[in-house]
Amino acid sequence: MNIGIIGAGNIGATLAELLTRAGHAIAISNSRGPESLQELVTQLGPNAHAATVTEAATFGEIVIEAIPFGRYADLPAETLKSKILVNAGNYYPDRDGVIDLQGLTHSEFIASHLPAVKVIKAFNTIYWVHLREQGDLTKPLEERRAIFIAGDDAEAKQTVSKLIEAIGFAPVDTGSLHNSRIQEPGADIYNKTLTAREANSLIPNS
Ligand SMILES: NC(=O)c1ccc[n+]([C@@H]2O[C@H](COP(=O)([O-])OP(=O)(O)OC[C@H]3O[C@@H](n4cnc5c(N)ncnc54)[C@H](OP(=O)(O)O)[C@@H]3O)[C@@H](O)[C@H]2O)c1
Repeated sequence: MNIGIIGAGNIGATLAELLTRAGHAIAISNSRGPESLQELVTQLGPNAHAATVTEAATFGEIVIEAIPFGRYADLPAETLKSKILVNAGNYYPDRDGVIDLQGLTHSEFIASHLPAVKVIKAFNTIYWVHLREQGDLTKPLEERRAIFIAGDDAEAKQTVSKLIEAIGFAPVDTGSLHNSRIQEPGADIYNKTLTAREANSLIPNS
């Protein structure tokens, strides 16, 4: 599958490494432009290339954003229309500035600025070093580290769940974007090392 990544830091670069290893083709971008990503894409190998943000969004059947929340307005809304956007970012007011979320969850807020984009929240609750090291394809799903996922489009959620499985983790569904508050910083499951079995027992109504 062709996957675009916006943000090439801890999370973006780690996902690029895991997804190229799983056989996907990656276009990865940052704020400074493709020239600044040459060393990274050389390390990632032939399945990855550096791109502008718009090029990465155009390339991806799925696009993953892993940028500071406060930069949400830079996401290319037109190009992302009808695509799946994985929102891996988190909102930290101290880092991102105080933003009026109008009572929305972080992912609902992102989605409200991206009409007709299928926003899925995933990869936001796991520390990037754990993401790099804790996937294990040899384990059955129930015993793998959980990656929490939320979204309003069942098919898109299924597609992202398959990617999570392909890199050695287990998707654990927390429900709708509205429900994704339980995946946000400060929530009980945030940044916790849990197997899928343990995680499922902690999700309300699961
Ligand atoms: N670190 C973690 O363990 C972790 C875990 C889960 C979720 N998260 C969340 O994921 C997001 C990324 O975290 P990170 O640790 O990967 O951050 P990071 O290492 O600081 O990397 C941020 C990346 O975003 C890029 N970026 C910034 N503004 C951009 C814009 N307007 N357009 C395109 N790219 C832009 C930066 O590019 P330049 O360098 O060119 O500016 C950089 O490649 C944050 O929201 C964070 O809260 C982090």
